[in-house]
Amino acid sequence: MHNRVAKAHFVGVAGSLRKASYSSAVLSSLRDHAAEMATLEILDLRLPLYSEDDDGAATPEAVRDFRQAIGASDGVVIVTPEYNHGIPGVLKNALDWASRPFGRSVLIGKPVLAMSVSPAFTGGVRAHAQVNETLLAIQARIVPGPQVVIGSVAEKIRDGILVDESCQRFALAALDRLIKISGSLEGSLPA
Ligand SMILES: Cc1cc2nc3c(=O)[nH]c(=O)nc-3n(C[C@H](O)[C@H](O)[C@H](O)COP(=O)(O)O)c2cc1C
Repeated sequence: MHNRVAKAHFVGVAGSLRKASYSSAVLSSLRDHAAEMATLEILDLRLPLYSEDDDGAATPEAVRDFRQAIGASDGVVIVTPEYNHGIPGVLKNALDWASRPFGRSVLIGKPVLAMSVSPAFTGGVRAHAQVNETLLAIQARIVPGPQVVIGSVAEKIRDGILVDESCQRFALAALDRLIKISGSLEGSLPA
């Protein structure tokens, strides 16, 4: 039973720039599976490297667009790999840009759902903890609930699509929590 108020609009980022990225594959699969209940616009993390000198009147256009897209959304979905037990630099860089101006970040109070992936059985759990720590500092609204940590991800993706059904259900349930928190829908999965 869909109790629809309005279709939610989310933005998504994958913490990897790799063409055949598993993180991107998970993100685009979620976008496709959730298409009926939400739109998920995938943003590019190819932003300039953060410098406070460039943040202000001279903020790069790509950063302005990035912030604007987050601001206009009902929430954010992050799917990240783990690099050296932490979050990849491209993701941290983007979050640092989005965290400013201090006290007026578009992420303050914004519902954010983070997921991590890894070909290892550990599923990027350390990166997951780290991204939540950063989101806490930014005062984003972290979606609570069971952590979506996708281990052995290479075996769960075929031709760029997340094909593991139980994993898919688990991730979509988390997306459903994001939808509920964002207030766009009262619920989308059957009660
Ligand atoms: C620089 C670097 C560091 C990595 N460190 C870790 C790590 O700490 N833990 C882990 O599970 N995998 C690690 N990996 C393997 C990644 O999980 C793997 O390459 C993954 O596929 C990257 O995500 P993607 O498929 O979205 O590009 C690392 C990979 C790279 C390139």
